[in-house]
Amino acid sequence: MPGSIAVRMKVLVVGSGAREHALAWRISESPLVSEVLCAPGNAGTSAVATNVAVDVGDVRGLVALAKKHKVGLVVVGPEAPLVAGLVDALEAAGIPAFGPSRDAAELEGSKVLSKELMAKYGVPTAAFRVFDDPDAATAYVRECARPLVVKADGLAGGKGVVVAGDADEAVAAIDAMMRERVFGDAGRRVVIEEVLRGEEVSYHVVSDGLRYVALAAAQDHKRLGDGDTGPNTGGMGAYSPPPIVTPEVEQKILARVIEPMLAGLREERRTFRGALFAGVMIVDGEPWTLEYNVRFGDPECEALMARFDGDLVPLLLGSANKDLSGVTPRFGAGASLCVVLAAAGYPVRVRSGDLITGLDRVATEAPGARVFHAGTKRDGDELHTNGGRVLTVCAAGATLDDAAELAYRAADVIAFDGKQVRRDIGFRARTR
Ligand code: AMP
Ligand code: GLY
Repeated sequence: MPGSIAVRMKVLVVGSGAREHALAWRISESPLVSEVLCAPGNAGTSAVATNVAVDVGDVRGLVALAKKHKVGLVVVGPEAPLVAGLVDALEAAGIPAFGPSRDAAELEGSKVLSKELMAKYGVPTAAFRVFDDPDAATAYVRECARPLVVKADGLAGGKGVVVAGDADEAVAAIDAMMRERVFGDAGRRVVIEEVLRGEEVSYHVVSDGLRYVALAAAQDHKRLGDGDTGPNTGGMGAYSPPPIVTPEVEQKILARVIEPMLAGLREERRTFRGALFAGVMIVDGEPWTLEYNVRFGDPECEALMARFDGDLVPLLLGSANKDLSGVTPRFGAGASLCVVLAAAGYPVRVRSGDLITGLDRVATEAPGARVFHAGTKRDGDELHTNGGRVLTVCAAGATLDDAAELAYRAADVIAFDGKQVRRDIGFRARTR
């Protein structure tokens, strides 16, 4: 932001995960910033920001906090407050905010809307049907008798998608979502779609409503176990860049997945600002859209922040202020990788309260590695687990192998009972 260097501003980061810790860290390094506040933050963000105990769901409380501290920018991490209209409320109060309006955030908040917009604007995606009647949905999957994907329409904390191997599994998912309402109203409607088989990547851009800039591609690892086995999770590790995203594939993603949706959202009067994150399946070199998220991925964001080169604030502020002209995000030439340390029982029945040790040894035994907190809680001098994904350990390097070696060296000096770690983050790129 030319000319704005003289006035340093306060930035409020909303959220409490490793994604928000990574964002707060980068923001705190900006010469444009005098102070970072984090609401509610976690035991890790307190090292780079001032934590304030306001919940992400408390829209009025967050607006009041931003006003009280005269913050120059609010950066919203998770989807729920975006879908709840936090950015609209902040803007109404005259506070620049990074993230989409409620209407634009519905792209993630409703899978039915997302699929309908993809169909309307010609974005390649799996063939689908929408159901609001469980009997009709059940009859359809019985008749199809092939693997299908069942998706709850609304937000379900990342758990609302079942890739069903057969009709029985699909029926079980329909029963859970539509009859038992395990995700509440989010399961009132479902999308049932064809299974795509390929390699999944996470592609992020940042838009100011008119222009957009692309960030580096990343790849998440959603299953709990090595070799992509076991239950789905919020993500067990990520790296950037994934080699499957060649310059040619990237151009296809921009032309077919990103640009038509940004233009379509403008057309629908749901103009998108903030981070647009497309989950894309690459099938024989062609991109197919699985979903859009209206925020940074977690843990993708940590991997991206580890590679990000320069000042993050002009990117976030340019998006919030509807002017990204002159902003070109740069990523270090090498690679980055992050691995999640998850608590005992994750993702099913999470155990909290286990003592975490070894964090103080990371700086000496794995210098350069960064540890971002998510489910941690400080108790006097002790740190305990307090949630499913506990820490995200991140490193950058000249090569992906270098980044992996450093991240795992750091991950291995951190200990707590029941710690779950995938050993194979980046395997698709590292065994190529
Ligand atoms: P979504 O929230 O729609 O991205 O779905 C969560 C995860 O389910 C994705 O990251 C994929 O791993 C998987 N998934 C979703 N849709 C499909 C599909 N049509 N074919 C195969 N896997 C899918
Ligand atoms: N890591 C996937 C997500 O943030 O949705």
